[in-house]
Amino acid sequence: AGPCDIYAKANTPCVAAHSPVRALYDSYKDVLYQVKRGSDNQTMPIYPLQAGGVANASAQDAFCVQTTCVISIIYDQSGKGNHLTQAPPGSAAQGPNPGGYDDLVLAAGAPITLNGKKAYGVFIQPNSGYRIDNTTGVAKGDAAEGMYAVLDGTHYNSRCCFDYGNAESDNTDHGSSDNGAMEAIYFGTGDGSASSGSGSGPWVMADLENGLYSGYNHGNNNGDPTLNYRFVTAIVKGEPGNNWAIRGGDATSGTVSTFYEGQRPSGGYNPMKKQGSIILGIGGDNSDGAQGTFYEGVITSGYPTNDTEAAVAKNIQSAGYGVTSLTSGPAVNVGSSISFKVTTPGFTDRFLYHTSDNVINTTVVNSNSPSALKGQASWTVRTGLGNSMCVSFESKDVPGSYIRHSSSRLRIDSDDGSKLMHEDATFCPEAGLNGQGNLIRSWSYPTRSFRHINAACYIAANGGPNFFDTTNSYNNDVSWLIGNSFA
Ligand code: AHR
Repeated sequence: AGPCDIYAKANTPCVAAHSPVRALYDSYKDVLYQVKRGSDNQTMPIYPLQAGGVANASAQDAFCVQTTCVISIIYDQSGKGNHLTQAPPGSAAQGPNPGGYDDLVLAAGAPITLNGKKAYGVFIQPNSGYRIDNTTGVAKGDAAEGMYAVLDGTHYNSRCCFDYGNAESDNTDHGSSDNGAMEAIYFGTGDGSASSGSGSGPWVMADLENGLYSGYNHGNNNGDPTLNYRFVTAIVKGEPGNNWAIRGGDATSGTVSTFYEGQRPSGGYNPMKKQGSIILGIGGDNSDGAQGTFYEGVITSGYPTNDTEAAVAKNIQSAGYGVTSLTSGPAVNVGSSISFKVTTPGFTDRFLYHTSDNVINTTVVNSNSPSALKGQASWTVRTGLGNSMCVSFESKDVPGSYIRHSSSRLRIDSDDGSKLMHEDATFCPEAGLNGQGNLIRSWSYPTRSFRHINAACYIAANGGPNFFDTTNSYNNDVSWLIGNSFA
């Protein structure tokens, strides 16, 4: 049985079931998600390999070969039609796209295996998010509901809000009168004023609007543990009569336990005023600074029992979540000394280098170049500072400084040890989109990769709001020949 078969049997049926990695009902064989490719904006539905099975990731790979794809729709498998699409603007934030819509995620941004079969999760980078405002069957007011999500416990930040769950149907936080307008799973380290659990986080918390809660108090709840397993199962549920719970555990072993169960926070959270929209990767007001990875999740009608959730957790374990390579194409070996050569026709005598004021550009470099320039165009490949499955590039002539992106511009900075620096300096090499060399994809913003344009270097998306995102010449501008270093 799938998770939603288990919930249905217990009379707490799924009213939304989202997953690009697998079917959540034994009998589900309809479309899981839709991808849209950059080369021609065509879309393609991705189905499970068989009823109840894992997504057909090779269909996506074939459709997206030598271009980029984004996830444009995450279908609701429950039959209620609660499909998630590109999130609209909200009272806190406009997304970067026309009309204020958030970014869509790279379809290949979160590869995993399920019992050895490849599938792709939803890698939420800041500014991306999905939503449906007008749902069918999702709890409103104080009605009972449950929800779980399987997340990457190593991908999070402190910004508002990496959420999955129930939120405002008007994308607007009207202030404290909206306390209780949301009931969603939150995962991360909170936003400073927010609540926390034990250790340094990340924590599973509940976003109840105008507050992330780890328990009764808007503050620290030691019962809510740091949960940094690679795959985390996170649970939030609430019911009339002033009762709700936060639960969670390792999605690959053990069982889920209760971190808090009891009365609602004071200050307008009882009774709840749930509005029944569904969000993924954003706050109720479209606050869109958070990051995290979502693999599967559901919302139920009714308050599931702990026994039902134990059976669901077991089902998740039996799905066999595992990690897989984040790189492809020619090997970029840790420890090697390299250069990055442009492949765009007419510019193939140019290489990536850093200027004396630390920005990264391209210029002509060859064996006759001054030795200072040779040093500026030479790099040592290091284990990824932010993720050991990818790499970082240390400057040869400024040891201790690494290529990183900052406001999408490439530059070098010394490693200050911060989480942000480490993530900004981590890149996952893939096969070059024009058939040559490598694409150098940003780990933290997977839709974005090393690109040169007008001799300046950025992390660029294949189409997007910035001038450097132009689709014109994209495949050539993001494909680099990795060769021996000059110095
Ligand atoms: O409750 C935390 C956040 O506060 C909500 O997600 C958002 O709507 C508001 O900014």
